[in-house]
Amino acid sequence: MSAESSVTKRLEGKVALITGGASGLGESTARLFVQHGAKVLIADIQDDLGHSLCQELGKETISYVHCDVTCEPDVQKAVELAVSKYGKLDIMLNNAGIMGHHEVRVTDTDTESFKTVFDINVLGGFLGAKHAARVMVPAKKGCILFTASLASKISLGTPHAYKASKHAVVGLTKSLSVELGEYGIRVNCISPHAVATPLFQKTLGVFDKKKGEEVVSASAVLKGAILEPEDFANAALYLASDEAKYISGVNLTIDGGYSLSNQTWKMGLSVLSE
Ligand SMILES: NC(=O)c1ccc[n+]([C@@H]2O[C@H](COP(=O)([O-])OP(=O)(O)OC[C@H]3O[C@@H](n4cnc5c(N)ncnc54)[C@H](O)[C@@H]3O)[C@@H](O)[C@H]2O)c1
Repeated sequence: MSAESSVTKRLEGKVALITGGASGLGESTARLFVQHGAKVLIADIQDDLGHSLCQELGKETISYVHCDVTCEPDVQKAVELAVSKYGKLDIMLNNAGIMGHHEVRVTDTDTESFKTVFDINVLGGFLGAKHAARVMVPAKKGCILFTASLASKISLGTPHAYKASKHAVVGLTKSLSVELGEYGIRVNCISPHAVATPLFQKTLGVFDKKKGEEVVSASAVLKGAILEPEDFANAALYLASDEAKYISGVNLTIDGGYSLSNQTWKMGLSVLSE
């Protein structure tokens, strides 16, 4: 038996649309979903990356569409393409996102860049959910996922626009899960801690993947493991699969317990040794 055929295909027969699927967490998820038998349409603005991923994985299982998630006709077209090409839409992963300009102080925050972050991270996800729901409601089933962030739970020094946008994504997840539950549609989001993807590397200005991982590991609560894009993809796989058939309205944290600790307490204790 080949290694591939021995893997239980947890998404056999399902169709998934992944925004921001050409890079980072979305790309890793697209790879895993294909491995698990799904037909995948990736929607992104990085056309070259998107096309080369399809070339690598095989055009019979994965395809690419240019789609700016802030443009409603683009999003509508992407959903319609998934349905016309593969016959239906089971999984919508609203993953496209940006960090935005890294001004941390509110007084320095540029209003236009604040709006851009909200347009991509929140409106983009909303449009994905809206058009996916138009297909999923009549089918009376479906799974909508969002990529939120640990910034939806704790402050990590990321810009206000990013943090607030990810809180909004969690709010949207909860709100939609209540409305769409009536139609058998599950809605969840995933909140990873920092993962060494292009977004993270650009934010830190550290383009060496290993160095980026070291930054995260140095402050990690869970030692002996490194958070990788595949960990996100595995969480998405679980939530998208029938194994999660009664899971809805959840913000699944992938942080090895980091958000449960308060590292500043150690700073306070250091006063005792002065
Ligand atoms: N990497 C991390 O540390 C981290 C942590 C928590 C959450 N996230 C979230 O994960 C998601 C994916 O980020 P990533 O780390 O994989 O970064 P990435 O930059 O590798 O991937 C993001 C993708 O989104 C696409 N995109 C950006 N704007 C778009 C638009 N208007 N329309 C369509 N596609 C667009 C980009 O082209 C890119 O392919 C984001 O929502 C991000 O906020 C990332």
